Amino acid sequence: MYIRSSGATVEVLSPAKVNLCLAVRGKRDDGYHELDTLVMAIGLYDTLRFSARPEGPIRLTCRWAWGTAAQAASSASRRAAGGGTAAGLEPIPEGENNLVYRAAALVKARAGLTHGAQIELIKRIPAAAGLGGGSSDAAAALLAAHRAWGLNWSRRQLAELAAELGSDVPFFLTGGVARCRGRGEQIERQRLPAMPLVVVRPPCGLSTAAVFARCRPGGEPLAGERWLEGGQHGDWRAFKEGLRNDLVPAAEELTEWVPRLRQALAAQDLWGYQMTGSGSSWFGICRSARQAQRVAARLRAQKVGWVFATTRAPPTPS
Ligand code: C5P
Repeated sequence: MYIRSSGATVEVLSPAKVNLCLAVRGKRDDGYHELDTLVMAIGLYDTLRFSARPEGPIRLTCRWAWGTAAQAASSASRRAAGGGTAAGLEPIPEGENNLVYRAAALVKARAGLTHGAQIELIKRIPAAAGLGGGSSDAAAALLAAHRAWGLNWSRRQLAELAAELGSDVPFFLTGGVARCRGRGEQIERQRLPAMPLVVVRPPCGLSTAAVFARCRPGGEPLAGERWLEGGQHGDWRAFKEGLRNDLVPAAEELTEWVPRLRQALAAQDLWGYQMTGSGSSWFGICRSARQAQRVAARLRAQKVGWVFATTRAPPTPS
């Protein structure tokens, strides 16, 4: 996350993420699932501009960034399958239905403020993709509201609000690389070297709730620490063994794009590949940034959806 202020306006670049591995350990009494996941922020960003007003309502406008629609339109056919959502660029939820609005409203209510805000959200991160776009935007809105309205809350207080908004939101307050447990809100920072990646969001998205509703929990814990240490020391062979996602079988029941992308990535010369979050996107770990560009070009030619080459994004400044 990058944050800068100019007068009463705070601008935030909010990154996407991938789950390098994701274990579903069980179902909790609150209906959520107990997770153990290694999450990495990546260099694809939405932009949030938060302008504080002395008083009045919170207003939010949203749009896709210029060029994003063009890319999606040229991608493969947009047939939806099973419980998937159609097309690459779903309408962005407006007003109270958007997590950004809810984040700003939550800060305003908890602080007992009468201040207002004009928020502009420019989207580049595809939705229903397992890339955490909505959660990242919500974390950006929390930090922007906190700064623009001149509050002085602790990180811990902000993290509590983040957890109320969604399971992935606390991770984005930290950013970088982190192991996340519980619902996703217990964050432990990790270090990994910069990792060239290729990410593919197929024409069909998936709803997180629909995928979790079909998953069968009780998977093995993450494969010890050896794979993580491997990644930290650039031993990708060891790291590759730890790449896994327990939500794949459930996602596979909802769209044929899951096996299609697995096949498309298996045919590339990658260090490893996996689905991110609840899907539908997949990522591949490449040997170099140049190779990532080449793999991205080949996948684009295969019309498997929206493809981009990227790498790890830095942690959120504290
Ligand atoms: O927390 P969030 O609103 O992002 O979660 C969306 C949905 O995903 C939840 O309603 C729940 O069905 C499912 N979920 C889950 N266990 C988690 C995270 C999410 O079952 N740890």
